[in-house]
Amino acid sequence: MSFNVSDPLSLFSQWLDEAAGTEVNDPNAMALATLDADGTLSNRIVLLKGHDAQGFRFFTNYEGRKGLALEANPKAAALFHWKTLDRQVRLEGPVKRLSPEESQAYYDTRARGSRIGAWASLQSQPLPDREALQSRIDDYETRFEGLEQFPKPDYWGGFILQPLAMEFWRAGDFRLHERVRLTRRETRGDWTQSPLYP
Ligand SMILES: Cc1cc2nc3c(=O)[nH]c(=O)nc-3n(C[C@H](O)[C@H](O)[C@H](O)COP(=O)(O)O)c2cc1C
Repeated sequence: MSFNVSDPLSLFSQWLDEAAGTEVNDPNAMALATLDADGTLSNRIVLLKGHDAQGFRFFTNYEGRKGLALEANPKAAALFHWKTLDRQVRLEGPVKRLSPEESQAYYDTRARGSRIGAWASLQSQPLPDREALQSRIDDYETRFEGLEQFPKPDYWGGFILQPLAMEFWRAGDFRLHERVRLTRRETRGDWTQSPLYP
């Protein structure tokens, strides 16, 4: 009964497209698990902002908790769960920073408020009160006043997860779910696939 995944990237794109048609919001939301320098695991949602044969891209603050974790341990596990389709996809692999140029190109497409927010937020650091954040927002609004485009902060940009393992899961009757795990030795290598017991 297990399905054959001849091209995992295409199957991922197909499932993501289908989820875009059925999920209420954020079909591109994925849980991203990382390992802090001290070995503590942590997890949070980020949005997938592009995927292709190179890998899966997301954007964040390089100095927040996940940014520092990825600096110390440049690998991650990502998980998509589409409730409306009863499907999940798991990704595991090394993570690299995108180039500043690629990050800037994506930054330029964001709403102004989000671009200012990237400057203003000291992501994951203690916030004394909401006014402290608002005051930083006001400062950067003043700094970039009248400018349609402006540089991103050095501490903000993209990462690319290059999976060495992917798993496609879809719900089956009586919890006899279908699972196919694909692995490869190198990030550009050929995939080997195996069905798994549910
Ligand atoms: C639906 C959703 C989408 C999110 N997208 C992002 C994102 O793309 N990038 C990001 O840095 N944080 C995003 N967040 C916030 C993160 O979950 C998290 O709170 C933040 O990145 C700080 O995580 P950290 O302290 O582990 O670095 C999103 C949260 C939700 C609920």
